[in-house]
Amino acid sequence: MRKINFLLALLTVALFWHCTSHPPISDEEINVIPLPQQVEPGNGYFILSENTSIVYDNSNEEVASVAQFIKETFAPATGYNIESATSGRRNAIRLVIDQSISGEPGVYEFESTPRRVTITAPDAAGLFYGAQTLRQLLPVQIEQLTVQTDVEWKVPAVEIYDEPSFQYRGLHLDVARHFFPVSFIKKYIDLLAFHKMNKFHWHLTEDQGWRVEIDKYPLLTEISSQRSETLIGHGGIEPFEYDGEPYGGYYTKEEMKEVVEYAKKRHITVIPEIEMPGHTLAVLAAYPELGCTGGPYEVATRWGIFDDIFCAGNEDVFTFLENVLLEVMEIFPSEYIHIGGDEAPKTRWEECSKCQARIEEEGLKDEYELQSYFIQRMEKFLNSHGRQIIGWDEILEGGLAPGATVMSWRGEDGGIESAQMGHDVIMTPNSHLYFDHYQNDPDEEPMAICCFSDLENVYSYHPVPDVLNEEEAKHILGAQANLWTEYMKTSEHVEYMAYPRAVALSEVVWTNQELRDYDDFLRRLDVHYDRLDKLNVNYFDKDR
Ligand code: ACM
Ligand code: ZN
Repeated sequence: MRKINFLLALLTVALFWHCTSHPPISDEEINVIPLPQQVEPGNGYFILSENTSIVYDNSNEEVASVAQFIKETFAPATGYNIESATSGRRNAIRLVIDQSISGEPGVYEFESTPRRVTITAPDAAGLFYGAQTLRQLLPVQIEQLTVQTDVEWKVPAVEIYDEPSFQYRGLHLDVARHFFPVSFIKKYIDLLAFHKMNKFHWHLTEDQGWRVEIDKYPLLTEISSQRSETLIGHGGIEPFEYDGEPYGGYYTKEEMKEVVEYAKKRHITVIPEIEMPGHTLAVLAAYPELGCTGGPYEVATRWGIFDDIFCAGNEDVFTFLENVLLEVMEIFPSEYIHIGGDEAPKTRWEECSKCQARIEEEGLKDEYELQSYFIQRMEKFLNSHGRQIIGWDEILEGGLAPGATVMSWRGEDGGIESAQMGHDVIMTPNSHLYFDHYQNDPDEEPMAICCFSDLENVYSYHPVPDVLNEEEAKHILGAQANLWTEYMKTSEHVEYMAYPRAVALSEVVWTNQELRDYDDFLRRLDVHYDRLDKLNVNYFDKDR
């Protein structure tokens, strides 16, 4: 009996010691965005110190790249040069590939204890997402670019199982209405990675500017990338007034390849968009023979939709586009190439003898079928080079190209119709995911194009419409928000429009809809804002 009492006392002391040295972690200490699918708080903290090592199999290049990302991300604030090791279980961040972990691509498991952090995944993408979770579990100062001597780098003990709900988690950027330097494009990509997004849709060509260097057509950079001046004020309000300032810019091939490589290290695919047959006035300004009337044309200086588009009856247009796309494919390894297809007025085609002759020869019913012919020809060409097309939902008109993926932007109807026809769909409805819309009272905001979509509206979005059955719903690959930059002249303004709405979007596309709760999101966002501050993001916040 006495012996039992002694053992009980010992057990009590041991338990007491254990509890005081390893206090239970509360839910409030875990503020990861997007919310992981399962979170089980543990006891105590892992402390990242100068003796912490990163343990991984360095024969796997992709895993080594994740380890390198962790080291580079944590070095500035901690001042630590975290050592790599191939074994060791104490004071270690372990990156483990385990094919038996099942789940959607990107799945990972995360375990932190006072002794170690272990991230386990079937591939490097999962490890990379686990690394983002680790970043967000550390004190917010981890994002600072100067050494923080007074911070204890504590990671609360937790077990996480996590996988994305959707495989397409995207953000778009229009660099044609206004041009943004590579340094900003990289920051934009960094922020996508931080939120476990995986697609960057780079809208590279427009009426107001062509931004891609193409060796075969030097006038695209010489003429199409420049406009004589830019509208002041809103594109829908006449009389128009202009600033009188020449404006332009383009990316060299080297720069674009550098962006692709940078994104790849962050598990992000760059999808280039080359607009056709509309939104092409800048091309026509340099190569007027590609338009129905022969010009002359000028690179657009105001915003809107223009009647002058590629002539669908002229073989030279297809030769031009195929040559351009050959060089585009050489820069961008993405399986998807976005060919635009939106807002192409049929006015010129109705009056053009070449276009009408094409309609006749091909037995087409009207100009909508002519657009379908145009897109299908480009699809065949891209397919023959192992690529797939994405187009805006106007490509449904006149008949959808057989393998096309549709970006549903004029609401969800185009996406619903396409999914019902067995086509893949990316939802990007202007009801919720147009981040060029106002996010607050227009009287208090810089000028935007129109409309209203605040943080709660974005957060409330679910990419799979109820009307789809289970089979059709599988065609909804995910969602994307668009940033059209007519009214965003600076990268600071782009950030202001994108954040925090893009943070809400990240949870829409990652976290199971049943787990999403706006109030809980706002609670985590409050801490997340501190991280965005350290990352120098010029986000909008009504209350700050
Ligand atoms: C679009 O907003 N014109 C796709
Ligand atoms: Zn024509």
